[in-house]
Amino acid sequence: MATPFIITLDGPAGVGKSTLAKRLADHFEIAYLDTGAMFRATAWKLGEGSWDWDIEKIEGALKELSFTLTGSGSDSVLSLNDVPLTSDIRTETVAMWGSNLAMIPAVRTYLKIAQREIGKTTSLIAEGRDMGTVIFPQAPCKFFLDAALEERARRRFEQLEEMGKPADINDLIEQIGTRDDKDRNRKEAPLKPADDGIIIDTTNLDIDGVFDRLVAEVKKISS
Ligand code: C5P
Repeated sequence: MATPFIITLDGPAGVGKSTLAKRLADHFEIAYLDTGAMFRATAWKLGEGSWDWDIEKIEGALKELSFTLTGSGSDSVLSLNDVPLTSDIRTETVAMWGSNLAMIPAVRTYLKIAQREIGKTTSLIAEGRDMGTVIFPQAPCKFFLDAALEERARRRFEQLEEMGKPADINDLIEQIGTRDDKDRNRKEAPLKPADDGIIIDTTNLDIDGVFDRLVAEVKKISS
């Protein structure tokens, strides 16, 4: 089997990673791995306050979790214990729980192994916070997307509205800002670009403009 081709897409909450990752996955006909969903689903399964459990209890609970990725493009399906993830994990509350668990080394190690296992057999657009720095540093195409906090909150607001989960824009600015600070400043795998990654500020760009730029960069690198 040919070596899987990996494109990494990192950046803060609300920057548009998921939308772009799905479009790229369709364009290049490869699978899409949403690693934020793995942290969210872990938090959803372990429950509120699990980040304060003692480490043996956390490790015991992690052993019961198994992630699989099937399908391709925007139809890629991430499952936990053979059950496809649902929109239940798509709230800022569950995201914050995920962010709390994401500070715990045992959780990161467990999900790192699961993510690399998936990347061993499947070509991927891998989306998250540490894809280019920690999980797939050898990937040929590594991107880091950023945008101003207010613009990211606005994009997340629209996304949640479309999902029928309306939110308050000021709450979103505060929640996303808090989560980012945590993600950027934690000791384990903080959110930052890979040294050899391509950084794109998307504040004043529309989604089509960013998509075209990403496709052009991937073609340049892989030709
Ligand atoms: O991407 P999403 O907003 O769904 O991620 C939820 C949380 O999971 C992030 O705020 C972050 O704390 C954590 N995460 C992470 N590393 C990743 C993906 C997500 O720490 N690769």
